[in-house]
Amino acid sequence: MDKKVTVVGAGNVGATAAQRLAEKELCDVVLIDIIEGVPQGKALDLAEAAPIEKHDAHIVGANAYEASAGSDIVIITAGIPRKPGMSRDDLISTNAGIVKSVTKEVARFSPKASLIIVSNPLDAMCHVAFEASGFPKNRVMGMAGVLDSARFRAFIAMELNVSVENTHAFVLGGHGDTMVPLPRYSTVAGIPITELLSKERIDALVKRTANGGAEIVSLLKTGSAYYAPASAAVEMAESILKDKKKILPCAAYLEGEYGIQGLFIGVPVKLGRNGIEEVIQIRITEAEQAALNKSAAAVRELVEVLKKLK
Ligand code: APR
Repeated sequence: MDKKVTVVGAGNVGATAAQRLAEKELCDVVLIDIIEGVPQGKALDLAEAAPIEKHDAHIVGANAYEASAGSDIVIITAGIPRKPGMSRDDLISTNAGIVKSVTKEVARFSPKASLIIVSNPLDAMCHVAFEASGFPKNRVMGMAGVLDSARFRAFIAMELNVSVENTHAFVLGGHGDTMVPLPRYSTVAGIPITELLSKERIDALVKRTANGGAEIVSLLKTGSAYYAPASAAVEMAESILKDKKKILPCAAYLEGEYGIQGLFIGVPVKLGRNGIEEVIQIRITEAEQAALNKSAAAVRELVEVLKKLK
């Protein structure tokens, strides 16, 4: 393949992302993990599936970063996932250290890469990677909105018994309980769901979306969601690798957009060859802006926690 993507963290999210990248033949894949043997073993297992899955993507595993050199994109999933009863924010001190050290290494070997952060708490980890890499803001982004809106879309399709392909959904804000799903901009075959569902049902779906991660953690008990998070990261990577210029909700560093200054938070962006090529500013109501401000305040609190960790 003429593109190369490194996935750091060969756990549930990372290995699944590697599988999806290879099976879509988007790029060659380098899987990196701190545990010896794990990335090598998973990469070999994936390579042995290639003849059956009919792809020619090369997949290698490594513990050192030399193998990642010259990557177009690095997806960072290294860190610990949450357990039942934990919020994403409880992971901050452990994952901040991991994301910082990993980012320094990937930035050294792939100075032109776009970074897609997956480790939680997501928006705060974007700050860590932004600072540790020294990359421009267009090349550091977080995967959350695509996942949150996919969850919302899945619930809308289940509720209305329609194809998921007919659904579209928009979610703004941080990746946490304060996320802001926007029903007005969420549609089925172009029809806003506000025309199709009662307020009570929409509120229930919105609530389920905001708790989507916790719902899965409470079922799995030993880890957090990974199939949908991996799919979401790969959709972002695909848009960049193919320069598709898809509009996707991602955590982006804002400097005044939506009235927010100096903070990573989920907004619609255009993803192409240069990473975040544009922050799309949609008109939102006063109530939606207030909800977004509340979400931004929650992210800012975590960023303050990060400063104290230093
Ligand atoms: N360098 C490289 N890999 C690391 C490091 C490090 N410093 N520290 C931990 N890892 C690896 C672990 O060895 C493990 O294989 O990260 C991997 C994480 O995998 P899982 O424990 O399976 O966690 P996963 O479900 O993939 O979630 C990873 O993404 O969605 C978020 O909240 C989630 O922060 C978590 C992250």
